[in-house]
Amino acid sequence: MQHILSAAQFDRERLEKFLAAASRMAECVKCDGARIADGKVLATFFYEPSTRTRLSFETAMLRLGGHVISVPDKSVSSVKKGESVEDTVRVLSGFADVIAMRSDTTGFLERAAAVSTVPIINAGDGGDGEHPTQSLLDLFTISRYFSLETPLRVTFVGDMKYGRTVHSLAPLLRNFPEVQLRFVSPKELALPKKYQADGDEHLTEISENILKNTDVLYVTRIQEERFADRAQYEKLKNKFHFTAEKIKIMPKNSILLHPLPRVGEIDPAVDALPQATYFEQAHNGVPVRMTLIAQLLDLL
Ligand code: NCD
Repeated sequence: MQHILSAAQFDRERLEKFLAAASRMAECVKCDGARIADGKVLATFFYEPSTRTRLSFETAMLRLGGHVISVPDKSVSSVKKGESVEDTVRVLSGFADVIAMRSDTTGFLERAAAVSTVPIINAGDGGDGEHPTQSLLDLFTISRYFSLETPLRVTFVGDMKYGRTVHSLAPLLRNFPEVQLRFVSPKELALPKKYQADGDEHLTEISENILKNTDVLYVTRIQEERFADRAQYEKLKNKFHFTAEKIKIMPKNSILLHPLPRVGEIDPAVDALPQATYFEQAHNGVPVRMTLIAQLLDLL
């Protein structure tokens, strides 16, 4: 049995196999042949708000022919009565075959995995932690447009400090030496040291030159809920705003990704441009999570 807690669990060979399996799955999301999880149960237990992640996990299990039980909000669970994550998971792992869990405190999911008798999938681990399944679908989306074996310029923009999707996608991309990573954020929201690596570039402003020299622009929201100091959030919240005019500076075949929700970083007028790939990216969550669930349950 294996848990999925961190992007560090994926080396290049595993990623290549995973991407190939996810491509096959994407061709057949709605086919009878995809219904390989009959009788299996996925539990989703989310301590923090979610739309895409929880519902795409649940859609993935339903498309696989399995079943879903769900706690979409900790306030309607026994967590509210003071139950520990360990006890919650001890009970849930007697009900379900696999558990997708989002925590509000980094490190919770390791505690969950330590007592679980079924695979735990990290669906977002607090603000300092990771979000490895989002980064698998991000990587899958990138791989639909670009080879990972030839030079590729990826620019992350926004909240690098609390953006857990960046904390997972950057290490995944580092499995491919041709990929060059650049991180743009206010200095207060710089990428934490533990997620940095040699060869990365760190900037505080986005320029025309960067936009012209970017193949994948990955924009994130400033994570309001992580700020202890409201005034600091107010100061930084509008730091980056991408209009259609700015995106048109980018190469014609470049792509614009965002894990969503967006709250002002990307103007709706950008949606009509060929670079806008964020809704397709969100949709890729279904075949990617189908593949992951099927692998964890030994169904593939
Ligand atoms: C992200 C998250 O929850 O970390 N959303 C998601 O899972 N698609 C990004 C965010 O909330 O900004």
